[in-house]
Amino acid sequence: MSVNKEVKKVTTNTLLKMKTSGEKISMLTAYDFSFARIIDNAGIDIILVGDSASNVMAGHETTLPVTLDHMIYHASSVIRGVNRCLVVVDLPFGSYQSNSDIALASAIRIMKETGAHSIKLEGGEEVVDSVKRIVSAGIPVMGHLGLTPQSIYKFGTYTVRAKEEDEANKLRRDAKILEKAGCFAIVLEKIPAQLAKEVTESLHIPTIGIGAGMYCDGQVLVMHDMLGINTEFKPRFLRQYLNISEQVTTAVQQYISDVKGKSFPNENEQY
Ligand code: KIV
Repeated sequence: MSVNKEVKKVTTNTLLKMKTSGEKISMLTAYDFSFARIIDNAGIDIILVGDSASNVMAGHETTLPVTLDHMIYHASSVIRGVNRCLVVVDLPFGSYQSNSDIALASAIRIMKETGAHSIKLEGGEEVVDSVKRIVSAGIPVMGHLGLTPQSIYKFGTYTVRAKEEDEANKLRRDAKILEKAGCFAIVLEKIPAQLAKEVTESLHIPTIGIGAGMYCDGQVLVMHDMLGINTEFKPRFLRQYLNISEQVTTAVQQYISDVKGKSFPNENEQY
């Protein structure tokens, strides 16, 4: 199935209807105006302005260094490129964990200063007060469970989460808690497919998987990974649709050769 042309603007209600009707939800990250415009025009349902900006835009090893100001800059650029899709913005590390006052203030800054439609934060029971207060302020919240990269130093590795029964049980519980607190969807990252299936079937709100198998209500990938801009990252769950890195290298080498060989610019390319 391709783009649903009947949907003029994707809202959180559209996503609920998609879950009910069995239409899968498509989601990709973007961090700037130009790519957001291409991806939105292509018909994506959700753009996530992910804190993965810390990795793919700024070159950090983890998502921890990106700040609220950085996220606001990226999100406001994305919003200017978007007509149809729902835009979700990550609350970055340090902008919500301290308490629900700080979480609410960060979410309000994102909504006010970017024009985005919703926010995402990581965690379950630990962040439920913040989720409730943000939702009460009228801001849609997407949850994020499983491998939550802002906790990488607690996990120690980027391996599959919730393989053990204790962690799987906590995830099942957290998903229900987030749904009850008012989240409109939950990202499930790098967990066993059978657990993702069970959680997806137990919720009324949609789940969006990344490395969580085929049974989630939707899928998300980091744009730089699926377009082959970032070619070092090759986990099993990633499907790479282009090799932009190779194409850009070839184009740049051709340009260098044209400039050095004095064939660019030619007579038709000057005034
Ligand atoms: O920041 C991000 O890109 C994300 C996705 C991996 C879900 O949170």
